[in-house]
Amino acid sequence: MEKDIKEILFTEEEIKKRIEILGKKISEDYKGKFPLFVCILRGAFMFLADLLREVQIPLSVDFMAISSYGGNTESTGQVKILKDLDTSIKGRDVLIIEDIVDTGLTMDAVTRLLRTRKPKSLKICTLLDKEERRKIPVNISYYGFKIPNKFVVGYGLDYKEKYRNLPFIGILKEKIYM
Ligand code: IMP
Repeated sequence: MEKDIKEILFTEEEIKKRIEILGKKISEDYKGKFPLFVCILRGAFMFLADLLREVQIPLSVDFMAISSYGGNTESTGQVKILKDLDTSIKGRDVLIIEDIVDTGLTMDAVTRLLRTRKPKSLKICTLLDKEERRKIPVNISYYGFKIPNKFVVGYGLDYKEKYRNLPFIGILKEKIYM
């Protein structure tokens, strides 16, 4: 797997340090509340697991599975819900946990849907932000790292379901998907 990686962008240690900071900030911002963390599957599972351990306040967790890619590196713009939440979000402080915001199409569709369910608040926490690729503006409250316009894998992120178990985040060699 590692031979398919062109460059490591963030090591395990760098990710851990950044998540500690994020966890502290979220704990302060949601103090006295009982937020619901909505993890977007599958890419954000590792981020969620590590972030939760750095958040020091009571919270609950639910999962939503979205498909926007059809197995390629370009978003199709078609966002399909493969698994919906089990929990009602009405009146809840909802924090969406996402792996990466790229064109913004996925987060735009997800936030529009969740808003119709009347949460008390709705915010986005993404590990990675590929800002220069944005097609639709997305209001990101918390992010781990801003990244350049490169296809990245590892730490939960995949290419055709592979590379999710790499402990770091790296740029995939172009020859793998070209
Ligand atoms: P968007 O709808 O274009 O913002 O894409 C969001 C989704 O595309 C993310 O949840 C990822 O699953 C996937 N994605 C976008 N860029 C990358 C990448 O560089 N590596 C792996 N997945 C990506």
